[in-house]
Amino acid sequence: MSPSPAAADSVFLAAARGEAVSHTPVWYMRQAGRSLPEYLKVREGIGMLESCMDPDLVVEITMQPVRRYGVDAAIFFSDIVLPLKAVGVDLDIKPGVGPVVAEPVRTLADVERIPDLTPEHVTFITQAVQGLVGELGATPLIGFAGAPFTVASYLVEGGPSKDHAKTKAMMLGAPDVWDALMRKIAQIASAYLKVQVDAGASAVQLFDSWAGALTPQDYTEHVMPHSSRVLAEAGELGVPRIHFGVGTTNLLTLMGEAGADVVGIDWRTPLERGIELVGDRAVQGNLDPTLVFAPTDVMTARAAQVIEAGRSAKGHIFNLGHGVIPSTNPDQLKKLTDFVHSYPLG
Ligand code: CP3
Repeated sequence: MSPSPAAADSVFLAAARGEAVSHTPVWYMRQAGRSLPEYLKVREGIGMLESCMDPDLVVEITMQPVRRYGVDAAIFFSDIVLPLKAVGVDLDIKPGVGPVVAEPVRTLADVERIPDLTPEHVTFITQAVQGLVGELGATPLIGFAGAPFTVASYLVEGGPSKDHAKTKAMMLGAPDVWDALMRKIAQIASAYLKVQVDAGASAVQLFDSWAGALTPQDYTEHVMPHSSRVLAEAGELGVPRIHFGVGTTNLLTLMGEAGADVVGIDWRTPLERGIELVGDRAVQGNLDPTLVFAPTDVMTARAAQVIEAGRSAKGHIFNLGHGVIPSTNPDQLKKLTDFVHSYPLG
């Protein structure tokens, strides 16, 4: 299979390509997950990684927000560390904590012990994507991978980190180890995205969530070449590429130049400014995820500002500026989705 033909005319893909649309397409990062009671129910007694490796469960969880909200795209239910687990890295995703790596990567030998990813490592992903594309029909599926820097941060720190100090110490102090690690993760990300697109995903998002911790100089010298390789290879698959990070105002131009068709903007950057910074590319974002806790009319007034700002972009996909907060009331997200869909663009 290749990108789902049924989804080719979707509003989401049209906006990603910079074509005119009838309404602003909308989906939410982390739209599946703990904010949904139906998610909590099917996950009962099943670990996060275990659920990501069960194709039936992945199909069900990915579909839940599509059914509930009628969003314009589904995002594949998985995690950025899943491909590492699939090639044999000893890690877990701890509830309320995030990914935890048993033996953090510190040396060249540690890097060399991580195998390259082949489609055989992730046959359950192929199965889940194929099942999903059948269920989704005309709704496109977004495949994703973690970008080299963000994934390296978990591997080097051994878990979540505020300052990414060990990661940056390796980047600046052991450039040979860093280069090998970034090349390894780029191979894994590229192969993982190809598996998803070959099975029918219509777009890909490269999450460099923690890139905002970097100066533009370090991003350019030590990170961008590796993300660029992943995005270039994804470009050969013929699907739009979305590139997103948090706190990236200083990096948005570079993140576009790395090879993105769509740049994700977090909520701290005014969308108008983000649009200027990314130039001739589409943008995705960027309502503050906490605005769903505000009164509905306040939330929709801010959403209207985001949609209006998005009109000057080459294309605009509405999203939150980062993931859905687990305590979000799904009824508010439904109202937000309906508001974006009914907002007149004419
Ligand atoms: O709906 C979707 O967006 C698809 C699912 C998705 C998950 N992780 C599921 C998940 C996606 C796209 C991711 C990507 C991911 N994972 C990123 C990049 C996106 C971002 O948020 O910036 C990052 C940095 C990770 C690493 C990670 N995994 C974190 C920070 C956490 C949260 C820790 C916590 O519990 O608060 C995870 C775990 C995780 N990934 C959960 C989900 C639904 C929660 C686990 C659970 O439900 O038990």
